[in-house]
Amino acid sequence: MESRVGIESVSLAYKKIILGVTGGIAAYKAAELCRLLAKAGADVRVAMTAAAQQFVTPLTFQALSGKPVLTSLWDSASGDGMEHIHLSRDADLLLVAPASADFLARLAHGRADDLLSTLCLARSCGLAVAPAMNREMWAAAPTRRNLEQLRADGVSVLGPAAGEQACGEIGPGRMLEPADILAALPGLLGAGPLAGKRVLVTAGPTFEPIDPVRGLTNLSSGKMGYAVAQAAAEAGAAVCLVSGPTCLAAPAGVRRVDVQSAAEMRAAVLRELPSDVFIAVAAVADYRVDAAAPQKLKKSDAGLNLRLVANPDILAEVAALPGAPFCVGFAAETERLAEHAEAKRIRKKLPLLVGNLAQDTLGQDSAELLLFDDRGRHPLPRADKLTQARRLIRHLATLLN
Ligand code: C5P
Repeated sequence: MESRVGIESVSLAYKKIILGVTGGIAAYKAAELCRLLAKAGADVRVAMTAAAQQFVTPLTFQALSGKPVLTSLWDSASGDGMEHIHLSRDADLLLVAPASADFLARLAHGRADDLLSTLCLARSCGLAVAPAMNREMWAAAPTRRNLEQLRADGVSVLGPAAGEQACGEIGPGRMLEPADILAALPGLLGAGPLAGKRVLVTAGPTFEPIDPVRGLTNLSSGKMGYAVAQAAAEAGAAVCLVSGPTCLAAPAGVRRVDVQSAAEMRAAVLRELPSDVFIAVAAVADYRVDAAAPQKLKKSDAGLNLRLVANPDILAEVAALPGAPFCVGFAAETERLAEHAEAKRIRKKLPLLVGNLAQDTLGQDSAELLLFDDRGRHPLPRADKLTQARRLIRHLATLLN
């Protein structure tokens, strides 16, 4: 499975993680997550709600974590009866996956009416939740309110993914795949190769207005830029994503700034500096209409001439600043990729440039990339964009460090 490439390198050695499992059909996937956490070297303790035990038995998690599973606040066998306090004080992270709509509601209200909710309230470590529920429950106003409250309380929300659901419906609400949850953890634990770094990413197309209802744009979907932002966040960076118009959701933990035109993108990028790294993935329009019409243009048999003027090159401008961040460019070419891409890297004075064939990449879910740096070329054979983004971030981290 291509999209899973890279998680074998996730290390959680010596990290103490409490895996909270709540009641939902995705609880069966939490068993795989538990196995992956243990394989990555984490010291895992599992806590299950009563409802979770209707889906999977504690014995499954005991076998996978190698430790007794915590199921009740009222377990007289657990020492001084203060297990919930000790456990959450010692842990590096509390991860609730799957997190049901009901559990999120209890969490948002600070309830402590079972072991897992008490662990959450008593914790002094970070808390991440991977929601899993039917799409209507996910869209419901109370769930929206609870999520907003949890985010404001500093809880990291991982996912959910969209797709086919156990109930047969299709939409957002599926728990993220265990491998994708695992990939997000080093970032949350501040343990990734970009921990402590600020990363600024541009993504998507720009939209250059012709009049109030029309404009010039391109076929960029934003998928690559969003994947790069996600991979940088997974690697522990504080990520700001300046995005042209796309229909994608911001990845977990990434701050998104929405823009339309190249001029707006430039202004947003300059506002968000300084940054340690700048990754320009956006397909910025090279030209804009000289004077966009204030009112909708009327059709005329005489045709229409639009005068286009050059847009500023945001990447070249940032790379030329004194104390410039480490700048990464993208070059989509339709022919002679290596030649054009390397020339572009030299012209814009970039330490790293990512080349791809435009016809092969635009709007697609996968890409074949060629990295250019001072040491030469590094091919990244075809894979889905998130895998490619993770490979790129790993390469960038080695150059930076
Ligand atoms: O010169 P070209 O447009 O092919 O360069 C592509 C790279 O430059 C991409 O990284 C793109 O995000 C960036 N770029 C920019 N501002 C522009 C044009 C391109 O930042 N006006």
